[in-house]
Amino acid sequence: MEGLDKIIDKYKEDKEQLIGLLQDVSSEFGYLPEEALVEISDKLDVPLSRLYSLATFYNSFRLEPRGKHHVCVCMGTACHVKGAQKLLDIFERDLNVKAGETTEDKQVTLETVNCLGACALSPLIVVDDEYHGKSDQKIVTKLIKGLKKKDEDGSPE
Ligand code: FES
Repeated sequence: MEGLDKIIDKYKEDKEQLIGLLQDVSSEFGYLPEEALVEISDKLDVPLSRLYSLATFYNSFRLEPRGKHHVCVCMGTACHVKGAQKLLDIFERDLNVKAGETTEDKQVTLETVNCLGACALSPLIVVDDEYHGKSDQKIVTKLIKGLKKKDEDGSPE
């Protein structure tokens, strides 16, 4: 895997820095590919189970590649109070995924976050870096339609 050898070399002398290593792999590939973890385990003589337990413990790591589009529903207190759970339920139902998952066609990754720091806009949803504040069920339905349309058109992100 291109780029991986460089990262492994960087951490060869400092195997205790596994989180830094995983962060570098994640920035290189956008997630932690299984083959990269296997190679790291082999080359640095670190148990694969240790790499997986770190990868699953920290929310910032992903073991699957992200979809082409990214939906993030804020579930912080302010957004939660204003009905974020209901909005998340609609995304999960209509996209047929659970939070943290990517649709089967790899088009959309649905995630939640604990506060986006813009509570005045609650409930807040971010779709492909675009903020949709004071969202409601109508807005969510529109956003989902838009995402599905983008897929059909094959339009770029
Ligand atoms: S709780 Fe959602 S932006 Fe703060």
